[in-house]
Amino acid sequence: MRRITLTRFLIERQRETQGINADLRLLIETVARACKAISHAVGKGAVGGMLGSADTDNIQGEVQKKLDILSNEILLEANEWGGNLAALASEEMEHPHPIPTHFPKGEYLLLFDPLDGSSNIDVNVSIGTIFSVLRCPKGADGTVGDPGEAEFLQPGTQQVAAGFAVYGPSTVLVLTIGHGTHGFTLDREMGSFVLTHPNIRIPEDTAEFAINMSNMRHWEAPIKRYVEECLAGKTGARGKDFNMRWVASMVSDVYRILTRGGIFMYPRDAKNKVGRLRLMYEANPMAMIIEQAGGAATDGKTRMLSVQPEGLHQRVAVILGSKNEVDRVTRYHHE
Ligand code: F6P
Repeated sequence: MRRITLTRFLIERQRETQGINADLRLLIETVARACKAISHAVGKGAVGGMLGSADTDNIQGEVQKKLDILSNEILLEANEWGGNLAALASEEMEHPHPIPTHFPKGEYLLLFDPLDGSSNIDVNVSIGTIFSVLRCPKGADGTVGDPGEAEFLQPGTQQVAAGFAVYGPSTVLVLTIGHGTHGFTLDREMGSFVLTHPNIRIPEDTAEFAINMSNMRHWEAPIKRYVEECLAGKTGARGKDFNMRWVASMVSDVYRILTRGGIFMYPRDAKNKVGRLRLMYEANPMAMIIEQAGGAATDGKTRMLSVQPEGLHQRVAVILGSKNEVDRVTRYHHE
C-alpha cells in the first residue's frame, strides 16, 4: 500500500495551492511534532512520573495536572522559533504568549488546548490536544506588531487550519486546512503520521448521543426534549432506539463521531450558564473539523463558526455532529 505521510500530504496540498503555503505547512508539521512528543509523555504513564496534579490552578480556576503543564511547554517551545507565528494562546495561559524578541515573527496565530480531557489522565483513558490557526491582522505599517487578545478574537470562519490529536490505543491526528477532514495515524516505529482516514464523512443520521447525563436536572427545555425523545426509543416520537456514549474527553467523543456518526452536546444549563467548553480552542476548531466532514456545529441557536468571540477564554454551549440531529436540536431551540 502506498503510504502518504503527513509531510507528503502537506507538500502535495502546497503544490496544488489548496489553502496552504510553506509557512502554514511548517506550522502544522511543528504542531504535529509536538503532539508526537506529548503522545510519548502520555504513553509513559506512571513510569514517567507525570501523573497527578501540579500545585497550580489555570486561568479557569481548574487544578492543573503535571501533564497539562508539560504539554503546554512542549507546544510553546516547538512553535515559538519557527518564524511563522505572530503569537500563541493556550488554555493554560491567561494572556497571549508573545514570540521572544530574538526570533522572527510570521503571519499566523496559534491557539491550543494542550491536553484536553485532563480528568482522564490518571485513569488511563484517551486524552488529546486541540489547535486552531488564524491569520494575524496587520497594522497600518503592514506588520503584525505585538498582537494582544484583540487580534485573536476572530470568528471561527476565519480559521485557516484546525486539528486535534487523540492519544488513545493509537495516536491519531485529525486535520483540516479547509478542504475536507483527514485522519493520520502515528506509526510509532517510523515516527511519522500516516494518512489512514482521508476525506472523513460523518453520516447525516445517527442513533447515538453523547452528553453528561448527570446535568439533566439543570438543562434547558430543548435539550431535555431531545434527550427524552432519544430515551423513549422505538415507542417514542423518534420511533427508534438510541445508544449513549460519554468519554468525558471531547477529543475522543468527537473522534468517535467522525468515525461512525453521533451527536455531542455540552449545552448551557442552570449550572454552566454560558456553557462549559471554550470557544476559541475547543469549540471553533472542532466545529471546522466537523463541518469539513459534512457535519454541523452550533451553540444551540447560531452556527458555531459565526459566533463573534468576546474573550480569549470565553465559554460556549456546544452541539455538534451528524447534521440532521444537530439541525433538529437547533430547531428545538428556535421553537
Ligand atoms: O475540557 C473540557 C472537557 O474535559 C472535555 O474534554 C469534555 O468533553 C468535558 O470537559 C467533560 O466534562 P464533564 O466533566 O462534565 O464530563
